[in-house]
Amino acid sequence: MNEIILKAKDVSKSFGRKGKDEFLAVDNISFELKRAKTLGIVGESGSGKSTLARCIMGLYKDATGEIKYKDIDILNANKKELLDVRRDIQMVFQDPYSSLNPRKKCKDIIATGIKNLMGERDKKKVYEKVLKTMEICGLSKSQMERYPHEFSGGQRQRISIARALAVDPQIIVADEPTSALDVSIQAQIINLLEELQDELGLGIIFISHDLSVVRHISDDLLVMKSGKLIESGPSEEIFENPKDDYTIKLLNSVPGESLAEYL
Ligand SMILES: Nc1ncnc2c1ncn2[C@@H]1O[C@H](COP(=O)(O)OP(=O)(O)O)[C@@H](O)[C@H]1O
Ligand SMILES: [Mg+2]
Repeated sequence: MNEIILKAKDVSKSFGRKGKDEFLAVDNISFELKRAKTLGIVGESGSGKSTLARCIMGLYKDATGEIKYKDIDILNANKKELLDVRRDIQMVFQDPYSSLNPRKKCKDIIATGIKNLMGERDKKKVYEKVLKTMEICGLSKSQMERYPHEFSGGQRQRISIARALAVDPQIIVADEPTSALDVSIQAQIINLLEELQDELGLGIIFISHDLSVVRHISDDLLVMKSGKLIESGPSEEIFENPKDDYTIKLLNSVPGESLAEYL
């Protein structure tokens, strides 16, 4: 229990030109993600959440610090190690429409990783895996041949989740996965992620500026502002007893419609 599957230490990433307009978008962030648990990351827009997510995915060559997954230091991984990272750590994005190739059928979107990251060449096996993953994500066989525009926003996010899940990942990094959806649909997607976590033991990094969502889903929490870590710890403790003024301000700005009614 409480096995740590991802450990980040002093991660920083800057943009701009050295000595000129350089600034730290992620400034010395450390955290741990536990197996089958959810780490929430909250903070206002521009606080560095997505940049941190991209650091975790190994997408920046110039990020500093250390992010350990198994024996791999993601920030200094070689090609082969990065392939493992790309398979085992999957992302789900905010806008399922722009992150899904509009010219590909649902089944082909989901099959891509099975072929490219898992190296599965047997067409029947690919098909079966696609079908099974779609079922797990609440999509039906009859939807396989459809294109992204033929789905609703919530269903498209199910396709994104299925695409991520198809390669049997250990970790899902979900960057504002419900922010583009109606509240009732948000609840369905969150429930789906929680079910998948229970069944598969997934570690989830759940990024959002919406505290009501994060409160519901997170076991642990990071609060970020201007690239810096403002507060971290067990989620419920922070929500019950926030220590920092910024966290208190964020908590007080929770919007009107409550997600809790739908969950
Ligand atoms: N590719 C980039 N080039 C320059 N600045 C960037 C780039 N990506 C993000 N930033 C800046 O880094 C900061 C953090 O952005 P981001 O990580 O997207 O924040 P969040 O996801 O919390 O809204 C912002 O000031 C943003 O403008
Ligand atoms: Mg972002």
